Amino acid sequence: MPTLTTTVNGKSVTAAVEARTLLVSFLRESLQLTGTHVGCDTSQCGACVVLVDGQAVKACSMLAVQVEAAEVTTIEGLADGDKLHPIQQAFMDNHGLQCGFCTPGMILSALDMVARHGAELDEQTVRHGLAGNICRCTGYHNIVKAVQAGARAMANADPQA
Ligand code: FES
Ligand code: FES
Repeated sequence: MPTLTTTVNGKSVTAAVEARTLLVSFLRESLQLTGTHVGCDTSQCGACVVLVDGQAVKACSMLAVQVEAAEVTTIEGLADGDKLHPIQQAFMDNHGLQCGFCTPGMILSALDMVARHGAELDEQTVRHGLAGNICRCTGYHNIVKAVQAGARAMANADPQA
């Protein structure tokens, strides 16, 4: 069985994984990081989105062995102790979630969007950026508002970023 060495949420991880193991299964079952969700078997819902070297990827469509030597970030890696990440706080403040099932994927996709487009995200950019993330509860309006507010809050928290 191949041995995988990678970094997840800032911690180095070495584990034996079957070559066929999906990244989402590795995160959820081997590392117990169950904030990364599985909402479909067709790579459509986006509930499984994580960051790999800063880019949003659907962890159900990638093998665990593909993150060898990479930096993986899951929803569990965002808060600073009890202090939520600005994007998480913005989802809370703007009622950007109801059941919360889609929320980890939405938030990781939002971080990718901020990295690519900066703090001032117009509605069209956000809706386009979230095209691969499905929410069956909210109607998306408050999610868009939360992403825009979170992006601005990130810039205010770290003006050099
Ligand atoms: Fe639905 Fe990955 S579980 S896109
Ligand atoms: Fe329930 Fe999005 S908040 S699926």
